[in-house]
Amino acid sequence: MASVDFLASLAVGSSASPQPPQAEPRIDAAAALRAATHALHEQLDHGLPLARADAQLADYAAHLTVLRDWQRALAPWLSRAIIDPAALALIEQDLNDCPAQAHALAVLNAMPPPDLTALRQIDDGRNGFCWGIAYVVEGSRLGGQVLYRRLSQQLAPHPLRYLGQRGRTGPSWPEMLACLQSRLDAGPELQSACHGAVAAFELLLLRFRLAGCIA
Ligand code: HEM
Repeated sequence: MASVDFLASLAVGSSASPQPPQAEPRIDAAAALRAATHALHEQLDHGLPLARADAQLADYAAHLTVLRDWQRALAPWLSRAIIDPAALALIEQDLNDCPAQAHALAVLNAMPPPDLTALRQIDDGRNGFCWGIAYVVEGSRLGGQVLYRRLSQQLAPHPLRYLGQRGRTGPSWPEMLACLQSRLDAGPELQSACHGAVAAFELLLLRFRLAGCIA
């Protein structure tokens, strides 16, 4: 599990000797979330078949079925944060245009349902926890834009709507970051968000492993 101990290094006012009052340094919420999940992102970035140069439509179908299943499982938490509801509709439309949809669905249906035990155990009820999960779900579409630029010609005429259309609906990424910053600038909320983000990444990695997408 990725460590969130680095948050301790962001703590202020721990000195034993009295200090003159100072403005508290502002914690960069996005930087903390990025640091907490960096190693997990690397595993996806380097391991996903869709990120390979020779990615095929079958890889896209497998990718979308796992992402759809994952986002549906996270719905109870996402409903407590702003998230682009149009994204799931784009996944549906893209899957309908994938000839390999049936195979990808069969693989998914043979898998056990997402195990949410870990998420439920570490959910401390703070909204920060949900915002950490929303950060991962929205962030996954940033990488999607990179994939779209790589694959749009290779996989044409498939429109790759889900990869290509981030930003046309829902919050822009700068809006999302501003939202995170305004909600997570207190230590406990941010710590909870990091726990949520790590748990969401770990669940997704597990689902991609079970689907045979990554080793
Ligand atoms: C589907 C699983 C994925 C998830 C959950 C995910 C998650 C994230 C998150 C949370 C961010 C925001 C990081 C930040 O705070 O700046 C991000 C950004 C990014 N991701 Fe991923 N990612 C995924 C797949 C990928 C893949 C396969 C690639 C390979 C192309 C990739 C490339 C990137 C890039 C280049 C950025 C930075 C984009 C920018 O700043 O404009 N991601 N991703």
